[in-house]
Amino acid sequence: MSDLSIEQGMNEKFASQSKKGQGESEAFLSAFKERRTYYQISKNAAIPDSRVEEIVKYTIKHVPSSFNGQTTRALILFNEDHDEFWNTTSTILSSMLPADQMAKTQQRLDGFKAGHGTVLFFDDESVIRQQQEAFKLYADNFPIWANQSNGMAQLLIWTALEKEGFGASLQHYNPLVDAAVQTKWKVPLEWKLLAQMPFGVPTGEPGPKDFKPLDERVWTAGKKD
Ligand SMILES: Cc1cc2nc3c(=O)[nH]c(=O)nc-3n(C[C@H](O)[C@H](O)[C@H](O)COP(=O)(O)O)c2cc1C
Repeated sequence: MSDLSIEQGMNEKFASQSKKGQGESEAFLSAFKERRTYYQISKNAAIPDSRVEEIVKYTIKHVPSSFNGQTTRALILFNEDHDEFWNTTSTILSSMLPADQMAKTQQRLDGFKAGHGTVLFFDDESVIRQQQEAFKLYADNFPIWANQSNGMAQLLIWTALEKEGFGASLQHYNPLVDAAVQTKWKVPLEWKLLAQMPFGVPTGEPGPKDFKPLDERVWTAGKKD
């Protein structure tokens, strides 16, 4: 039995349904196509904070990782803690950037702070080090694989939050903010900050998006039908 109610609910809902090979990828693919970068977000919540927590836990639990090392960590900041993160980011950046550059950056930061919450994504470097010790042949690859697994979790959480009615974006103010995050939220030193995902109910639409020709990006070989 799972300790996540989201998982129990899904098990019950889908218990009687067929699992594979029934064209059931459409809902998944469409959800992930609809995921976009939303910069205009509000403090409104599409769902309770506890449901966001469940979605993040569910994703972090089930996302694949190299050697099942389960290296991804997340800290979800809601409400005042979310505000504090973006205020702190602003303080740090304003001490580093010239005033004219900071004005533009501040506008962006205000946009993220206008949201309801932020998911911080980390890799646990203590686990990566254990993997490197245990499998010396692949030592150089473990940090890369951990990053890849983290990116998978980011995409899934981004998509799920938007399915629930939020808009989100992906930001990278690490490593500038790492020490402040460690101090304020008592994050272990071994957790390496990789990305920040501010989210809130959208107040605007995503921008246009161009696509490169797919034939240049995807090749096939041996295709039969
Ligand atoms: C690995 C990765 C890093 C990104 N870093 C940033 C970032 O630092 N700041 C930002 O505003 N958007 C960032 N983005 C968002 C991309 O700019 C965006 O996903 C892309 O332009 C496609 O638009 P879409 O998300 O609406 O589909 C990042 C996306 C990815 C996948």
